[in-house]
Amino acid sequence: MCGIVGYIGDKNAAEVLIDGLQRLEYRGYDSAGIAVLADRQLRVMKRKGNVSELRKMVDKKGGMDATIGIGHTRWATHGDPDDANAHPHVNTAGDIAIVHNGIVENHSALRTLLTDKGYVFQSSTDSEVIAHLIDSVWEDNMFLEDAVSKSLCAMSGAYGLCVISSRDPDKIVVARKGSPLVIGVGDGVHVVASDGAPLAGSFSQVEYLHDGELAIITRDGYELKTLETKKNRKKHPEPFEITLQEIEKGGFPHFMLKEIFEQTDVIRDVMRGRVRLDDKDGDTTVRLGGIEDHIDCLKDAKRIIICACGTSWHAALVGEYVLEKFTRVPVEIEYASEFRYRDPVIMKEDVVIVISQSGETADTRAALQLAKERGATVMGVVNAVGSTIARETDFGIYLHAGPEIGVASTKAFTGQVVVLTLLALILGREKSILSEQEIKAHLVALSEIPDKIERILNQDESIQRIAKRYSDARNFLYLGRGYHFPVALEGALKLKEISYIHAEGYPAAEMKHGPIALIDEEMPVVVIGQQSNGDYDKVVSNTEEIRARKGRIIAIVTEGDEDIRRLARDVIFVPNTLPALTPLLSVIPLQLLAYHIAVLRGCSVDRPRNLAKSVTVE
Ligand code: G6P
Repeated sequence: MCGIVGYIGDKNAAEVLIDGLQRLEYRGYDSAGIAVLADRQLRVMKRKGNVSELRKMVDKKGGMDATIGIGHTRWATHGDPDDANAHPHVNTAGDIAIVHNGIVENHSALRTLLTDKGYVFQSSTDSEVIAHLIDSVWEDNMFLEDAVSKSLCAMSGAYGLCVISSRDPDKIVVARKGSPLVIGVGDGVHVVASDGAPLAGSFSQVEYLHDGELAIITRDGYELKTLETKKNRKKHPEPFEITLQEIEKGGFPHFMLKEIFEQTDVIRDVMRGRVRLDDKDGDTTVRLGGIEDHIDCLKDAKRIIICACGTSWHAALVGEYVLEKFTRVPVEIEYASEFRYRDPVIMKEDVVIVISQSGETADTRAALQLAKERGATVMGVVNAVGSTIARETDFGIYLHAGPEIGVASTKAFTGQVVVLTLLALILGREKSILSEQEIKAHLVALSEIPDKIERILNQDESIQRIAKRYSDARNFLYLGRGYHFPVALEGALKLKEISYIHAEGYPAAEMKHGPIALIDEEMPVVVIGQQSNGDYDKVVSNTEEIRARKGRIIAIVTEGDEDIRRLARDVIFVPNTLPALTPLLSVIPLQLLAYHIAVLRGCSVDRPRNLAKSVTVE
């Protein structure tokens, strides 16, 4: 949520900042702006709209040949997404510029205080108070970092903050509380950003700023300080491996489509080094390095609670079904935002799993902290390496799905489901619930999933044709049973997110308790059913019920299930697999269907309105 970038080096700062912002656009795209500093002069350029609008403005006005600057792409929280509310914000004298991600909770009290002191506000954002606050506490003998640090003591809320000032011009001061910042460490050049995307291709080492820390970044290096104690923290640069190729569209018109098509490789990557079929002794092995030292704690868990948001919550729901089936341990799924506020019962013997693609979602992070406070062991399933949730959990598993840039999550979902399935297989073996044959059968079936996904991707053109028939629909229903219920929810979410069509996912049998009233000849109903699932006959009966009420049925069924044609207007076939793995296949046509419908409706697929990739506000 909101993307921040800062640059200090020897290149044209405006150009580097705009390139960086473009790569961060999936974090917010309501407005964008930069502030650059040259010859003790600060120039701010900002405007409503996305980064390409800002680029036009900067091309016209020029970037002053500055080699230091900060930039921001905004997802509006306080104040309309207009020019004035775009970041950077400056103090009344115009010599301090800030970009901020997060929320200043006491902004209204601070605004009154600062207005009384004569500061003139230009915007209605909470963030602007920070620029004036820094000015108000800056005494003659102070450096920029002293003033920033002092101002933060008066502020409550969350921040990822970058500040530059013509009063102390050769440095960027950054601070973090609740909103991530990472520094790209180079030779005479440093870039600081909300996540690694702007650093790809230019840096091989990064320093993750910890919560409650401030960094002073110059051309020659950086210094880290703890805000509370003001003491220096030892540097701990880490290798950085995101490549340019991973954050580019690679010939696809949208990141979302690229990421849908990447899923064959993603599943192989998620399993790489973790699953080995038939080693020299004819054994099959499955291991997850991140949990090896904690296997007893997982095995002895009396209960597993999984907390997540959005698509990650849908993966958690698949995880619930698989974990209960394979381990017989009770599993509860919680929306992180509900869990943290409803005073849940959490016991020391519980293992709480938090799932997050970005590793930064504020509610998931708060759920993690609550679980820790109450003494539970907390495990993470995270995609973004080095992210906050990955650091704050007791242990965890990385997806290794590569950066996901399309706001609507696709490859992270399938990656999460694979990780949860591997976890369930490992625990099922440890608890002697699953036989070696069952484990082997699942691992073999998992290894076949990428080729089966490929077969579904090959139907892209026919899915596009189907999409044409429904692109003007106003509502959609998605129905599935068992493992396909979470897929129905995920299919509906994809459609809502990117095409703005109202869609609901429902357990197929629950249809009779309400949604059936909505069905008429106008209503497209996606029915997901696979013959290998024991409840298939029931799904067919539900489909008959929809047909009897003239619903427009799109069936997602197993290859060879020609019978369904008598009921469905459109049929998309997916290969057969073991029941627990069916979500990995049935979700693919739903991602493609949502994608094509959104494109046909002229929607902004990678940057859907009002959404952001990483939701760092509660
Ligand atoms: C946002 C994104 C979704 C994502 C959800 C949870 O709403 O737009 O795509 O599923 O956050 O994010 P996380 O990074 O925690 O998985």
